[in-house]
Amino acid sequence: KTYPKTFPKGFLWGGATAANQVEGAWNIDGKGMSTAEVVQKADDRRQMSMSDVTQETLQVALADTTVERYPKRRGIDFYHHYKEDIALFAEMGFKVYRFSIAWARIFPKGEDLVPNEAGLVFYDHVLAELAKYDIKPLVTLSHYEMPIALTQKYNGWAGRETITAFNRFTETVFNRYKKQVPYWLTFNEINTGTWGFHETGAIDKGLSKKEQLQIRYQALHHQFVASAIATKQLHEIDSTAKIGSMLARMQTYPATPNPKDVRAAQLVDEKNLFFTDVQARGEYPEYMNRFFYENDIVIQMAENDQALLLANPVDFISFSYYMTNVTAHDQVGDGAGNMAVGGRNPYLKESDWGWQIDPVGLRISLNTMWDRYRKPLFIVENGLGALDKLENGQVHDQYRIDYLRQHIEQMKESIKDGVDLLGYTMWGPIDLISFSTSEMSKRYGFIYVDQDDNGDGTLKRIKKDSFEWYKQVIKTNGEQL
Ligand code: BG6
Repeated sequence: KTYPKTFPKGFLWGGATAANQVEGAWNIDGKGMSTAEVVQKADDRRQMSMSDVTQETLQVALADTTVERYPKRRGIDFYHHYKEDIALFAEMGFKVYRFSIAWARIFPKGEDLVPNEAGLVFYDHVLAELAKYDIKPLVTLSHYEMPIALTQKYNGWAGRETITAFNRFTETVFNRYKKQVPYWLTFNEINTGTWGFHETGAIDKGLSKKEQLQIRYQALHHQFVASAIATKQLHEIDSTAKIGSMLARMQTYPATPNPKDVRAAQLVDEKNLFFTDVQARGEYPEYMNRFFYENDIVIQMAENDQALLLANPVDFISFSYYMTNVTAHDQVGDGAGNMAVGGRNPYLKESDWGWQIDPVGLRISLNTMWDRYRKPLFIVENGLGALDKLENGQVHDQYRIDYLRQHIEQMKESIKDGVDLLGYTMWGPIDLISFSTSEMSKRYGFIYVDQDDNGDGTLKRIKKDSFEWYKQVIKTNGEQL
């Protein structure tokens, strides 16, 4: 019996971005305001501001039409630089480019009956540009943003009405871009909906933990349903296109071999895999039904919801991978938390932002998910946010090359283990606005963008050392790392 020794032919190498972190042009050509554009820049590097929105800060943001405090309104002006940026991706040999469509560009108020043509035209142009270079689009339908009008009216995904609005949007873009987009994703890192606003668009600051969990899991249920409806729509509209789920995979290790710690880690891990369990297998797993029961969480379901989930599982599973966590049984606390970021792992180094770097964990995650689901996997984010230095027009980012090489080596090991891996889109091939802190100085790219945290700079694009390196990786289909 033979086994694939390396990356299969046609492996999809590329990069990934999100509309609200790159596009800018937040209030032109008919675009409505989105949830990402009311999130203020974090004051402190280690503080994540993306779910800190309250009714008060929302009112302030709505009244403020400047960009200073809201860097996601400015992005890196991809809206006007997309040709140049895509040409650079093509120069590296990208086979695939993952980007998201800004829902509020197409349906400015969320519930408009007619889409905004200028918004659709922008993505026509982006797709045409990609087609020119034979780069396959992988499109995220909802990457941490939605029309703010839906937060104001329904508290985002907490309201069931948002399902209808979303599926009008998905039907519109599926029809418009059919035969042009072979891969779609519904919700980016859907599991982070348990953290709150940035993913669900629901404001719940100040509520008790129990109330928050109730709102968040209810909102997530609405997203599961909307995702299943989108899957059904796509299969009807474009029978050759595939649609996947997207999880922020966070493997959790036990702090010690104490079986209590091993079990604690398993529980945290189950709560991470809960999302792919629903989206790939089509039903709520019993361990979560138990969790809801024991924590007094009641998920309101419509009569047809469960049948809909079961009938429309995703075609493939995608995930982001940045780090692993450690937990111990006495850290799990009330059992109500999710995504508990546990203690430090003494065997791992961390990034400038404290993210624990664990290439082997990527292989563990790939193998675990393949064993569990037997559906094709797609790594749609992985990368290193670092403080790059531009000196004499150059950026020597050997640390980024090392990070990526080590992760790609582990991908290769997983492929040898039999994992069906469709592709790899590293995060942030071009520097962009950080999701969690809204900084510009947390850079991921192969391409440096001349812009600082205050938005000052020429926006000039400059190739870093890693640019040539990744070009070789793609050219040799992962042989030359
Ligand atoms: C993922 C998100 O969580 O991580 C991206 O899907 C994000 O949007 C990426 O940018 C890196 O996070 P950050 O906070 O460093 O930008």
